[in-house]
Amino acid sequence: MKKVAVVTGSNKGIGFSTVKGLLKRFDGVVFLTSRDNDRGKAAVAKLNQLGLHPEYHQLDVTDKTSVARFRDYVKQKYGGIDILINNAAVCNCSELYLGYQESKDIIDINYFSFFIIQEHLYPLVRNNGRILNISSDCGHLSNVRNEYWIKRLSNKDLTVKDINEFVNWHLEAVKNGTFNRSDIADDGTIAAYRVAKVAVSALTIIQQRELKARNISVNSMHPGLVRTDMTKGVGFYDADQAAETPLYMVLEAPASIQGAYIWYDRKVLDWYDPKADWYFKSVNFNQ
Ligand SMILES: NC(=O)c1ccc[n+]([C@@H]2O[C@H](COP(=O)([O-])OP(=O)(O)OC[C@H]3O[C@@H](n4cnc5c(N)ncnc54)[C@H](OP(=O)(O)O)[C@@H]3O)[C@@H](O)[C@H]2O)c1
Repeated sequence: MKKVAVVTGSNKGIGFSTVKGLLKRFDGVVFLTSRDNDRGKAAVAKLNQLGLHPEYHQLDVTDKTSVARFRDYVKQKYGGIDILINNAAVCNCSELYLGYQESKDIIDINYFSFFIIQEHLYPLVRNNGRILNISSDCGHLSNVRNEYWIKRLSNKDLTVKDINEFVNWHLEAVKNGTFNRSDIADDGTIAAYRVAKVAVSALTIIQQRELKARNISVNSMHPGLVRTDMTKGVGFYDADQAAETPLYMVLEAPASIQGAYIWYDRKVLDWYDPKADWYFKSVNFNQ
Protein backbone atom coordinates (compact mmCIF):
# COMPACT_ATOMS: atom_id res chain seq x y z
CA MET A 1 0.00 0.00 0.00
CA LYS A 2 1.43 3.35 -1.06
CA LYS A 3 1.56 6.10 1.53
CA VAL A 4 0.01 9.43 0.53
CA ALA A 5 0.70 13.05 1.50
CA VAL A 6 -1.46 16.01 0.47
CA VAL A 7 -0.72 19.74 0.75
CA THR A 8 -3.48 22.24 -0.02
CA GLY A 9 -2.62 25.52 -1.78
CA SER A 10 0.78 24.20 -2.81
CA ASN A 11 1.42 25.88 -6.17
CA LYS A 12 3.58 28.51 -4.43
CA GLY A 13 4.94 29.77 -1.14
CA ILE A 14 5.26 27.59 1.94
CA GLY A 15 2.95 24.91 0.50
CA PHE A 16 5.15 24.53 -2.59
CA SER A 17 8.30 24.27 -0.47
CA THR A 18 6.60 21.71 1.77
CA VAL A 19 5.75 19.58 -1.26
CA LYS A 20 9.36 19.90 -2.41
CA GLY A 21 10.61 18.74 0.99
CA LEU A 22 8.15 15.85 1.13
CA LEU A 23 9.28 14.69 -2.31
CA LYS A 24 12.83 14.47 -0.98
CA ARG A 25 12.05 12.86 2.38
CA PHE A 26 8.67 11.08 2.33
CA ASP A 27 8.46 7.54 1.03
CA GLY A 28 5.16 7.78 -0.83
CA VAL A 29 3.02 9.75 -3.25
CA VAL A 30 3.00 13.53 -2.71
CA PHE A 31 0.07 15.57 -4.04
CA LEU A 32 0.70 19.13 -5.18
CA THR A 33 -2.76 20.71 -5.32
CA SER A 34 -3.97 24.12 -6.44
CA ARG A 35 -7.23 25.91 -7.07
CA ASP A 36 -6.02 26.96 -10.52
CA ASN A 37 -4.95 24.22 -12.94
CA ASP A 38 -2.46 26.33 -14.88
CA ARG A 39 -0.70 27.64 -11.78
CA GLY A 40 -0.59 24.10 -10.39
CA LYS A 41 0.86 22.62 -13.55
CA ALA A 42 3.48 25.38 -13.78
CA ALA A 43 4.51 24.52 -10.20
CA VAL A 44 4.76 20.84 -11.10
CA ALA A 45 6.96 21.73 -14.08
CA LYS A 46 9.31 23.64 -11.77
CA LEU A 47 9.68 20.59 -9.54
CA ASN A 48 10.16 18.31 -12.55
CA GLN A 49 13.13 20.46 -13.54
CA LEU A 50 14.65 19.56 -10.16
CA GLY A 51 14.03 15.86 -10.84
CA LEU A 52 11.07 15.79 -8.42
CA HIS A 53 7.70 14.31 -9.39
CA PRO A 54 4.59 15.17 -7.38
CA GLU A 55 1.20 13.96 -8.43
CA TYR A 56 -1.05 16.89 -9.36
CA HIS A 57 -4.75 17.40 -8.68
CA GLN A 58 -6.94 20.48 -8.78
CA LEU A 59 -8.29 21.34 -5.30
CA ASP A 60 -10.12 24.50 -4.32
CA VAL A 61 -10.69 24.24 -0.58
CA THR A 62 -13.81 26.42 -0.73
CA ASP A 63 -15.49 24.40 -3.48
CA LYS A 64 -17.32 21.27 -2.30
CA THR A 65 -17.42 19.79 -5.80
CA SER A 66 -13.69 20.23 -6.23
CA VAL A 67 -12.91 18.68 -2.83
CA ALA A 68 -15.31 15.78 -3.44
CA ARG A 69 -13.71 15.14 -6.85
CA PHE A 70 -10.29 15.02 -5.25
CA ARG A 71 -11.58 12.73 -2.48
CA ASP A 72 -13.02 10.28 -5.00
CA TYR A 73 -9.79 10.24 -6.99
CA VAL A 74 -7.57 9.57 -3.96
CA LYS A 75 -9.95 7.02 -2.51
CA GLN A 76 -10.17 5.06 -5.73
CA LYS A 77 -6.45 5.19 -6.54
CA TYR A 78 -4.80 4.94 -3.11
CA GLY A 79 -7.52 4.19 -0.56
CA GLY A 80 -6.44 6.81 1.97
CA ILE A 81 -4.25 9.68 3.13
CA ASP A 82 -1.39 9.49 5.64
CA ILE A 83 -0.38 13.16 5.82
CA LEU A 84 -2.67 16.13 5.22
CA ILE A 85 -1.36 19.69 5.45
CA ASN A 86 -4.10 22.33 5.39
CA ASN A 87 -2.01 25.21 4.11
CA ALA A 88 -4.22 27.16 1.64
CA ALA A 89 -5.09 30.69 2.76
CA VAL A 90 -5.31 34.33 1.72
CA CYS A 91 -4.57 37.50 3.64
CA ASN A 92 -4.63 40.90 1.92
CA CYS A 93 -2.34 41.83 4.81
CA SER A 94 -1.22 45.18 3.40
CA GLU A 95 -4.72 46.56 4.07
CA LEU A 96 -4.86 46.92 7.84
CA TYR A 97 -8.64 47.46 8.01
CA LEU A 98 -11.09 45.75 5.69
CA GLY A 99 -14.79 46.06 4.90
CA TYR A 100 -17.38 43.33 5.31
CA GLN A 101 -17.13 41.52 1.97
CA GLU A 102 -13.34 41.24 2.05
CA SER A 103 -13.44 40.14 5.69
CA LYS A 104 -16.03 37.50 4.84
CA ASP A 105 -13.97 36.23 1.88
CA ILE A 106 -10.90 35.83 4.09
CA ILE A 107 -12.87 34.00 6.77
CA ASP A 108 -14.60 31.75 4.21
CA ILE A 109 -11.29 30.70 2.64
CA ASN A 110 -9.15 30.54 5.78
CA TYR A 111 -11.64 29.07 8.23
CA PHE A 112 -14.97 27.80 6.86
CA SER A 113 -13.15 25.78 4.16
CA PHE A 114 -11.90 23.56 6.99
CA PHE A 115 -15.38 22.09 7.35
CA ILE A 116 -15.43 21.09 3.69
CA ILE A 117 -12.03 19.46 4.01
CA GLN A 118 -13.02 17.84 7.29
CA GLU A 119 -16.21 16.39 5.84
CA HIS A 120 -14.67 15.01 2.65
CA LEU A 121 -11.03 14.25 3.42
CA TYR A 122 -10.78 13.40 7.12
CA PRO A 123 -12.63 10.09 6.69
CA LEU A 124 -9.83 9.15 4.29
CA VAL A 125 -7.02 9.90 6.74
CA ARG A 126 -5.71 6.56 7.91
CA ASN A 127 -5.30 5.57 11.55
CA ASN A 128 -2.05 7.01 13.01
CA GLY A 129 -2.05 9.66 10.27
CA ARG A 130 -1.02 13.28 10.71
CA ILE A 131 -2.94 16.45 10.00
CA LEU A 132 -1.24 19.82 10.22
CA ASN A 133 -3.31 23.01 10.08
CA ILE A 134 -1.19 25.98 9.06
CA SER A 135 -2.30 28.79 11.32
CA SER A 136 -0.22 31.87 12.16
CA ASP A 137 0.99 34.00 15.04
CA CYS A 138 -2.33 35.71 14.22
CA GLY A 139 -3.93 32.44 15.40
CA HIS A 140 -2.67 32.54 18.98
CA LEU A 141 -5.36 33.33 21.53
CA SER A 142 -3.43 36.44 22.61
CA ASN A 143 -4.72 38.09 19.41
CA VAL A 144 -8.12 38.29 21.10
CA ARG A 145 -8.55 41.12 23.61
CA ASN A 146 -12.27 40.83 24.29
CA GLU A 147 -12.68 39.24 27.76
CA TYR A 148 -15.91 37.44 26.91
CA TRP A 149 -14.37 35.70 23.90
CA ILE A 150 -11.09 34.92 25.64
CA LYS A 151 -13.07 33.13 28.32
CA ARG A 152 -15.38 31.35 25.92
CA LEU A 153 -12.60 30.20 23.56
CA SER A 154 -10.56 28.98 26.55
CA ASN A 155 -13.34 26.65 27.69
CA LYS A 156 -12.03 23.07 27.79
CA ASP A 157 -15.41 21.93 26.45
CA LEU A 158 -15.14 24.27 23.47
CA THR A 159 -17.57 23.49 20.65
CA VAL A 160 -17.73 24.35 16.95
CA LYS A 161 -20.75 26.51 17.80
CA ASP A 162 -18.54 28.62 20.12
CA ILE A 163 -15.97 29.16 17.39
CA ASN A 164 -18.52 29.92 14.70
CA GLU A 165 -20.24 32.44 16.95
CA PHE A 166 -16.88 34.11 17.62
CA VAL A 167 -16.22 34.42 13.88
CA ASN A 168 -19.74 35.67 13.18
CA TRP A 169 -19.52 38.16 16.06
CA HIS A 170 -16.58 39.76 14.28
CA LEU A 171 -18.22 39.73 10.85
CA GLU A 172 -21.44 41.23 12.21
CA ALA A 173 -19.47 44.00 13.93
CA VAL A 174 -17.68 44.88 10.68
CA LYS A 175 -20.97 44.77 8.79
CA ASN A 176 -22.74 47.04 11.29
CA GLY A 177 -19.84 49.44 11.67
CA THR A 178 -19.54 48.56 15.38
CA PHE A 179 -16.15 46.84 15.20
CA ASN A 180 -14.17 47.88 18.28
CA ARG A 181 -10.45 47.87 17.42
CA SER A 182 -9.52 47.20 21.05
CA ASP A 183 -11.25 43.77 20.89
CA ILE A 184 -8.36 42.50 18.77
CA ALA A 185 -4.60 42.88 19.40
CA ASP A 186 -2.46 45.51 17.68
CA ASP A 187 -5.32 48.02 17.41
CA GLY A 188 -7.47 45.58 15.48
CA THR A 189 -5.23 45.43 12.39
CA ILE A 190 -5.86 42.62 9.86
CA ALA A 191 -8.71 41.55 12.15
CA ALA A 192 -10.47 39.14 9.77
CA TYR A 193 -7.25 37.20 9.17
CA ARG A 194 -6.58 37.06 12.93
CA VAL A 195 -10.13 35.94 13.70
CA ALA A 196 -9.94 33.24 11.00
CA LYS A 197 -6.58 31.95 12.25
CA VAL A 198 -7.63 31.99 15.94
CA ALA A 199 -10.65 29.99 14.78
CA VAL A 200 -8.40 27.51 12.93
CA SER A 201 -6.21 26.93 15.99
CA ALA A 202 -9.29 26.56 18.20
CA LEU A 203 -10.90 24.15 15.73
CA THR A 204 -7.69 22.10 15.73
CA ILE A 205 -8.29 21.33 19.41
CA ILE A 206 -11.77 20.02 18.64
CA GLN A 207 -10.61 18.04 15.60
CA GLN A 208 -7.96 16.40 17.77
CA ARG A 209 -10.59 15.38 20.30
CA GLU A 210 -12.62 13.78 17.52
CA LEU A 211 -9.71 11.93 15.90
CA LYS A 212 -7.92 10.81 19.05
CA ALA A 213 -9.57 7.37 19.02
CA ARG A 214 -7.86 6.71 15.67
CA ASN A 215 -4.53 8.07 16.99
CA ILE A 216 -4.45 10.73 14.28
CA SER A 217 -2.52 13.80 15.42
CA VAL A 218 -3.96 17.21 14.55
CA ASN A 219 -1.85 20.26 15.33
CA SER A 220 -1.81 23.88 14.24
CA MET A 221 1.30 25.97 13.73
CA HIS A 222 2.78 29.37 13.02
CA PRO A 223 5.33 29.10 10.18
CA GLY A 224 7.11 32.38 10.98
CA LEU A 225 7.11 35.63 9.04
CA VAL A 226 8.07 34.27 5.62
CA ARG A 227 9.05 35.98 2.37
CA THR A 228 6.15 34.91 0.14
CA ASP A 229 3.53 36.63 -2.00
CA MET A 230 1.29 36.77 1.05
CA THR A 231 3.69 39.14 2.83
CA LYS A 232 4.76 40.85 -0.40
CA GLY A 233 8.25 39.50 0.18
CA VAL A 234 8.63 40.65 3.80
CA GLY A 235 9.94 38.08 6.25
CA PHE A 236 12.92 36.80 8.16
CA TYR A 237 13.27 33.62 6.16
CA ASP A 238 12.33 32.07 2.85
CA ALA A 239 9.69 29.45 2.07
CA ASP A 240 12.16 26.54 1.94
CA GLN A 241 13.39 27.43 5.43
CA ALA A 242 9.82 27.91 6.63
CA ALA A 243 8.85 24.44 5.38
CA GLU A 244 11.28 22.77 7.79
CA THR A 245 8.97 22.81 10.82
CA PRO A 246 5.88 21.62 8.92
CA LEU A 247 8.05 18.80 7.53
CA TYR A 248 9.29 17.98 11.01
CA MET A 249 5.72 17.95 12.34
CA VAL A 250 4.42 15.46 9.78
CA LEU A 251 7.52 13.28 9.40
CA GLU A 252 9.46 13.24 12.67
CA ALA A 253 7.69 14.84 15.64
CA PRO A 254 6.58 12.49 18.43
CA ALA A 255 3.07 11.22 17.68
CA SER A 256 2.22 12.18 21.25
CA ILE A 257 2.11 15.87 20.23
CA GLN A 258 -1.61 16.20 19.72
CA GLY A 259 -3.95 19.18 19.54
CA ALA A 260 -1.00 21.51 20.10
CA TYR A 261 -0.07 24.97 18.83
CA ILE A 262 3.47 24.87 17.40
CA TRP A 263 5.84 27.80 16.83
CA TYR A 264 8.14 28.00 13.80
CA ASP A 265 11.09 26.88 15.94
CA ARG A 266 9.25 23.59 16.78
CA LYS A 267 8.35 24.70 20.30
CA VAL A 268 4.93 23.70 21.64
CA LEU A 269 3.37 26.92 22.98
CA ASP A 270 0.53 27.43 25.41
CA TRP A 271 -2.26 28.54 23.08
CA TYR A 272 -4.46 29.46 26.02
CA ASP A 273 -2.21 32.20 27.43
CA PRO A 274 -4.12 35.43 26.62
CA LYS A 275 -1.32 37.64 27.97
CA ALA A 276 1.46 36.06 25.88
CA ASP A 277 3.50 38.22 23.55
CA TRP A 278 3.04 35.89 20.58
CA TYR A 279 0.40 37.84 18.70
CA PHE A 280 1.25 39.41 15.33
CA LYS A 281 2.50 43.01 15.27
CA SER A 282 1.76 44.76 11.99
CA VAL A 283 4.83 46.97 12.44
CA ASN A 284 6.81 43.88 11.31
CA PHE A 285 5.58 44.58 7.79
CA ASN A 286 7.51 47.83 7.73
CA GLN A 287 10.85 46.46 8.87
N1 LIG B 1 4.05 34.05 4.81
C1 LIG B 1 3.92 34.28 6.12
O1 LIG B 1 4.65 35.10 6.72
C2 LIG B 1 2.90 33.54 6.92
C3 LIG B 1 2.83 33.81 8.30
C4 LIG B 1 1.90 33.13 9.06
C5 LIG B 1 1.10 32.18 8.48
N2 LIG B 1 1.18 31.93 7.14
C6 LIG B 1 0.29 30.90 6.58
O2 LIG B 1 1.06 30.00 5.82
C7 LIG B 1 0.26 29.44 4.76
C8 LIG B 1 0.95 29.61 3.43
O3 LIG B 1 1.10 31.00 3.18
P1 LIG B 1 2.13 31.59 2.12
O4 LIG B 1 2.86 32.67 2.80
O5 LIG B 1 2.87 30.49 1.46
O6 LIG B 1 1.09 32.27 1.12
P2 LIG B 1 1.03 32.35 -0.48
O7 LIG B 1 2.39 32.35 -1.06
O8 LIG B 1 0.11 33.48 -0.75
O9 LIG B 1 0.34 30.96 -0.85
C9 LIG B 1 -0.98 30.69 -0.50
C10 LIG B 1 -1.45 29.50 -1.29
O10 LIG B 1 -2.83 29.22 -0.94
C11 LIG B 1 -3.54 29.06 -2.15
N3 LIG B 1 -4.98 29.29 -2.00
C12 LIG B 1 -5.64 30.42 -1.67
N4 LIG B 1 -6.97 30.20 -1.68
C13 LIG B 1 -7.15 28.90 -2.03
C14 LIG B 1 -8.27 28.08 -2.22
N5 LIG B 1 -9.52 28.56 -2.08
N6 LIG B 1 -8.08 26.78 -2.54
C15 LIG B 1 -6.85 26.28 -2.68
N7 LIG B 1 -5.74 27.02 -2.55
C16 LIG B 1 -5.89 28.31 -2.23
C17 LIG B 1 -2.90 30.03 -3.11
O11 LIG B 1 -3.27 29.74 -4.43
P3 LIG B 1 -3.27 30.89 -5.59
O12 LIG B 1 -1.88 30.96 -6.14
O13 LIG B 1 -4.27 30.35 -6.55
O14 LIG B 1 -3.70 32.18 -4.97
C18 LIG B 1 -1.43 29.74 -2.80
O15 LIG B 1 -1.03 28.57 -3.45
C19 LIG B 1 -1.09 30.14 4.86
O16 LIG B 1 -1.98 29.36 5.62
C20 LIG B 1 -0.75 31.42 5.62
O17 LIG B 1 -1.88 31.96 6.26
C21 LIG B 1 2.06 32.59 6.35
